[in-house]
Order: sequence, then structure tokens, then C-alpha cells
Amino acid sequence: MSTAVVTGAGGALGRAIARRLAADGHAVAVVDVSAEALEDTRRELEAAGARVRAWALDLRDADAVGGMFTSVDDTSILVNNAAIYPSRPFLDIPLAEYDDVQAVNQRGYWICAQAAARQMVRAGGGAIVNIASIVRHGGWADLASYAATKGAAVALTRALARELGPSGVRVNAVSPGAFPTAAEEIHPDPEGYNRFVLDHQALKRRGTPDELAAVVSFLTGPDSSFMTGQTIEVNGGWVMS
Ligand SMILES: NC(=O)c1ccc[n+]([C@@H]2O[C@H](COP(=O)([O-])OP(=O)(O)OC[C@H]3O[C@@H](n4cnc5c(N)ncnc54)[C@H](O)[C@@H]3O)[C@@H](O)[C@H]2O)c1
Repeated sequence: MSTAVVTGAGGALGRAIARRLAADGHAVAVVDVSAEALEDTRRELEAAGARVRAWALDLRDADAVGGMFTSVDDTSILVNNAAIYPSRPFLDIPLAEYDDVQAVNQRGYWICAQAAARQMVRAGGGAIVNIASIVRHGGWADLASYAATKGAAVALTRALARELGPSGVRVNAVSPGAFPTAAEEIHPDPEGYNRFVLDHQALKRRGTPDELAAVVSFLTGPDSSFMTGQTIEVNGGWVMS
């Protein structure tokens, strides 16, 4: 048996990704710092017949993450998805907040990728997907610390793809545009933000978490077997690459 590990699976995108990977036939290990949100995900997946184990832990705690990967010792897929996104003007961001964003969005991705890759290399293959963000393309006010980590996620993806490719481990990134999740609550004017998003997208409707999860499914499945080091933009044609 092998397991797909999804971090941040208490949130809307992580939950949809876990649901999709379970539907693809994988056993899933779902991880989140919010025990309550995680329990909702676990219950939903179990009700759908998934083989699911839940780990309520903080990705800033390397020992807790290590313990999880000791127990889940057959990781074939890792989706680094958990992130925080405090919004504040650059000049007002305390160093402690910057450190926190790095600890979750960057160091957290690193710790999980290293632990998962050790298992994948041993097994002779695997797939890692790092969730980036459209924000890294630049020009987003009040999200400097978050944007920096999302640029780092793409650089990490390429570095790991290069290094782990010879061992059969593929590493790709998915870069979401604006999906209607809890993440949107940072915007003070929801209707104005919705108009802003639709103005910028080529497709004049909002994306759904399932549409994002479908791309993760593709990148972790056999149809993308010759792809590594890539970043796929899923944003309704907002930023085009
Ligand atoms: N929603 C969007 O529009 C959007 C756009 C671009 C990128 N993204 C990216 O998609 C991913 C998922 O975002 P979302 O919209 O579902 O956000 P979300 O806030 O709903 O979900 C993130 C989840 O991560 C968990 N988490 C936060 N800190 C953690 C920690 N220290 N340890 C373990 N879990 C932790 C949270 O509890 C939450 O359940 C993130 O990487 C985000 O940057 C989202």
C-alpha cells in the first residue's frame, strides 16, 4: 500500500485535493493544525469510503512532522498545501510575523518534502506537488512575506525536480489564482474583490476547489509521467505563462 499525504487538508483547497486523491484510489493522510477542520475532512472522506488517517499537527514543529512520517512510512505522493497569509503593509510587518510565514509556507514545505522524498527514493519513485500562488507574479500589496514564500515554492520545486529525478521522484508545482476559500477573508470588500477577480480572468466565473484538485490529480498520476520541475497556473486565464 502507499499513501498520499496532503497538508492543510482542513482548508477548502486541501480538502478537495485529499478528496480527489482518495477518489483516485490512494490511501490518504491528511494534516492540519486545526483539529476541528481536519476532523470535518476526515469524516467527509471516510463517509465517501476513503482510507484516511488524520494528523492534527503544526508544520512549524519538525518533531511532530517527523513523527507523522515515521508512522506514515509509505508516502508515494506529497501535496505541500498548508499556508498562512497574514496581510499587512511591508513597512509594518514585524519580523516575528515574517518568520512565522517562512516557518509554515517554506520551512514546512521543506521538512515534509525531505521526509517524503526519503521514502520515495527508497521506494524508487513518487510525486511531490507544491502549491504556489498567482501572488508570486508580483505587484500584490500587503502580502510580501507570503509572496516571497510562494516564489520560493517554485524555486524549491525546480531544485528538487533536478535532484530527485534520477531516483524517479517527480516534483511539480500548481499555482492557484483566486479561489473562493477562507483565504479570501483577508479582503475587506468581498464583492469588490469578486469583481476585481472576474475583471482580470479570461474566464468570467470563479474557479472551484475541485478544478484545482483535478490538476493535482494529473500531476500525481500516470498521465504526467514525463513531467517534472513544472509549474501549472490554474487561474482562469488571469496570469498567462
Ligand atoms: N484560495 C486561494 O485563492 C489561493 C490562491 C493562491 C494560492 N493558494 C494556496 O492554496 C493553498 C490552500 O489555500 P486555501 O485557500 O485552502 O487556504 P485555507 O486557509 O483555507 O487552508 C490552509 C490550511 O492550512 C492550515 N495550516 C495553516 N498553518 C498550518 C500549520 N502551521 N500547520 C498545519 N496546517 C496549517 C490551516 O489550518 C488551513 O486549514 C495555500 O498554499 C495557499 O497559499 C490559495
